[in-house]
Amino acid sequence: MFDKNVFKMSGIKQVFALLVGLAVSQAFFILGQAYFLASVISNLWSGQSFKNQMMPILLFFLCYLCRHLVTFFRDRYLESYARQQSKTLRIELLEKIFRMGPLLIQKHGTGNITTMLIEGIHQVENYLQLILVKIINMSIIPVVLLIGIFILDWESGIVLLLVFPLIIIFMIILGYMAQSKADRQYRTFQILSNHFIDSLRGIDTLQLFGISKKYEKSIYQTSENFRKATISTLKVAILSTFALDFFTTLSVAIVAVLLGLRLLDGNILLFPALTTLILAPEYFLPIRDFASDYHATLDGKNAMAEMGAIISEPEAEIQQISVSNWSAKSQGHFNQLSYNYGENLALSDVSFSISGFQKIGIVGMSGSGKSTLINIISGFFQPTQGEIQLDQVKLGNLSQKDWQKQLAYIPQSPYIYHRSLRENLAFYHPEASDEQLMTVIEQLDLQEFYDELPRGLDTIIGEGERSLSGGQAQRVALARALLDSNRKVLLFDEPTAHLDIETEVALKAKMLPLMANKLVFFATHRLHWMREMDYILVLEHGRLVESGTYNELKAKQGAFARLIQEMRGNQHAED
Ligand SMILES: Nc1ncnc2c1ncn2[C@@H]1O[C@H](COP(=O)(O)OP(=O)(O)O)[C@@H](O)[C@H]1O
Ligand SMILES: [Mg+2]
Repeated sequence: MFDKNVFKMSGIKQVFALLVGLAVSQAFFILGQAYFLASVISNLWSGQSFKNQMMPILLFFLCYLCRHLVTFFRDRYLESYARQQSKTLRIELLEKIFRMGPLLIQKHGTGNITTMLIEGIHQVENYLQLILVKIINMSIIPVVLLIGIFILDWESGIVLLLVFPLIIIFMIILGYMAQSKADRQYRTFQILSNHFIDSLRGIDTLQLFGISKKYEKSIYQTSENFRKATISTLKVAILSTFALDFFTTLSVAIVAVLLGLRLLDGNILLFPALTTLILAPEYFLPIRDFASDYHATLDGKNAMAEMGAIISEPEAEIQQISVSNWSAKSQGHFNQLSYNYGENLALSDVSFSISGFQKIGIVGMSGSGKSTLINIISGFFQPTQGEIQLDQVKLGNLSQKDWQKQLAYIPQSPYIYHRSLRENLAFYHPEASDEQLMTVIEQLDLQEFYDELPRGLDTIIGEGERSLSGGQAQRVALARALLDSNRKVLLFDEPTAHLDIETEVALKAKMLPLMANKLVFFATHRLHWMREMDYILVLEHGRLVESGTYNELKAKQGAFARLIQEMRGNQHAED
């Protein structure tokens, strides 16, 4: 009934204690309410004057008021507690996502993580708000009421005592059914959200290959599956609510009929019979309350379980070892690095050394492991094997803060945030002055783009607002790197792969000067870049098959020469 993560929440013990206390007090208010109401009616029935009934009437209303006040304040309290907890959960999740980076997103899917953070958190909030109190009420109030009923009339007590376990068993069966339905519903929902976002992201490619219509069908199909799963969950939910209402109403009716018969026979007095009759529906109320919200909260329970699983996912031990700033005299050694995605070995046994401000080219066909190597150098990925040594400091991976502060990353499609041009440029260096910003705009030939912006540096760009061409986005990324002169290590991952040759040539002219006095890692399959590199690593199926300077490799007539040969057909490749 409870997700185990509920017990890990802060302050949950106090909440439990408070809810138990409130449930007991509420049970007594219900008893009082029934007691005073029944006594007023039976007193009037036995001919007492109405005037004498003022005291019990007042007490009845007092009990009634207290009972509902308890509900009111308890709900207010739980609402703020649930909000607080879901906020904490969201922060924990976000922190985990930021710590684990792309690894976590790849594993769970963007769509899934996004819906979890937006929709899932609300479901958890709802779950926490409803489920705690319902379960506690269900396990306390009926017990107290039953004791009261036994004292008044043990025969009715026995009837009620007998039906209760039956209802519980019945609910457990339906609960299991609903749980498996809700699990299925949740899984189809995850599939739907991942599928939908992935299709949207790839819509250009899909259209290019003329298969976007086919995907329309497949999205339709996944959403149909989700619809069916939802309806079948609802079916169970409605059926079980109906069945429960039916059983409890029947039980109350049986108690009423038995009381009626015994009243006719004179076997019982009016007062205990009336009190018992008033209490009987109250006895079933908490369990009905629980059942009616149970299905609504299953989503929240599932979401909470999944969030718990993500938060407790093991993280590689990251030791923060201080790493000095890369300088012209620095030395680096990468020894026998390997990396695998699950079963898939993406890099194996890659060793090389770097020194000072060099430009290292990383070449290879698509899938040869270039991006994986860049991700290891950036510290995003921790190598599954191997060791790295930077200036005498031995490291298992490069997730060191000191190292990452020196990096600038320029991917194939740099992300342009839906923010002002200023914020987009000052990405690594938020304190950059307008003067500095204007200088890089000038340096990177962004002047024309800038001149068209109505609010200059404060114009919002990106995400459909003012979309940038591939070349412009690339220039913004370069400007980011240029603005922070402390970032001496530049990581390029196919920065020109999607640009046409004219744009690439223009960009190349701007890029080369930026690479001076920097340690540059440049992954590409466009081989003309290699002439500008000081040292080249040639990757093939995750292995480093050749390394050396451009001339050395060209003379060798080995893997690099083969690569050039294979690329010949491609006009952007080496001459
Ligand atoms: N997220 C991933 N999950 C599983 N395999 C992956 C993943 N990313 C890359 N790979 C595999 O790892 C290998 C190297 O990929 P990658 O480093 O992206 O190559 P490149 O950048 O040279 O194209 C390829 O075989 C690729 O299929
Ligand atoms: Mg790549």
